[in-house]
Amino acid sequence: MLNLNIKACYNYDMKEEAVTLYEYLSSAKIASVRRIIKVIRHGAVTVDDKVIDDPNALISVSSKVAFEGKEIPYVYHFVLILNKPSGYMSSTIDERYPSLLHLLPEELASRAILAGRLDHDTEGLIILSDIGRLTNRLVLPEFHVEKEYVAELDKPLDEKDYQDIINNGTDFNGEIVKPISLKSKEGRLSVNIVVSEGKYHEIKRIFRRRGYIVTKLTRIRLGNLNLGDLEVGKYRLLSKDEEKSLYELVGLTYGNRIIRPSVNKN
Ligand code: URA
Repeated sequence: MLNLNIKACYNYDMKEEAVTLYEYLSSAKIASVRRIIKVIRHGAVTVDDKVIDDPNALISVSSKVAFEGKEIPYVYHFVLILNKPSGYMSSTIDERYPSLLHLLPEELASRAILAGRLDHDTEGLIILSDIGRLTNRLVLPEFHVEKEYVAELDKPLDEKDYQDIINNGTDFNGEIVKPISLKSKEGRLSVNIVVSEGKYHEIKRIFRRRGYIVTKLTRIRLGNLNLGDLEVGKYRLLSKDEEKSLYELVGLTYGNRIIRPSVNKN
């Protein structure tokens, strides 16, 4: 049931999608990948009632697959972006404010892992997925995933402070953070700022240090994903191409939404 609902959330037809046999079985997390491969090689896996002993055999996700006699449905994974409204917590439980998981249908919310956090009063793009390795990498500083924000300020950013942010950077407990880019607009009352670190309150602190208050903060891009015209409070599942480039951005191989460990032929 859960599985079917996730499938229905996707806007392209996944019925005939091909996956390798071991990927199909790993998606359902029935055993470790090593054990799954061993069982396949021992001839204890059938696909549409025929024994298949090659873990790399390509099969359709709508095949009937049995593992040691037990039928196993294919489990769909998901990656989505949400346009987080102000007033929601980037956490999986309600704290001072409600969790942003209330904005997702139950079948996604119950499996979603957040890729990073936005402050309760920050709006904008946040990624959620049930693929832990992907969400982990998206927040690790070594992958330098770019985050672009629009920050509205309480007073116009003067030239001296603009140059200071760009050239001298901001000290975060001994680490100097310089934005990848900083562009002011609307009479310098608003800026576009791109960073890659993901420090706690990073943008607000950059400006607060110089006497400015960020009155509104919106994340409009993360890596190669733009918020576009996604309405505040709404989510959308990524297209295949978007998922693929997100995986590549953080050095993961894309294989039908399942991380593909290398399978040794021997
Ligand atoms: N920087 C901040 O200050 N707050 C956020 O929510 C994100 C980045």
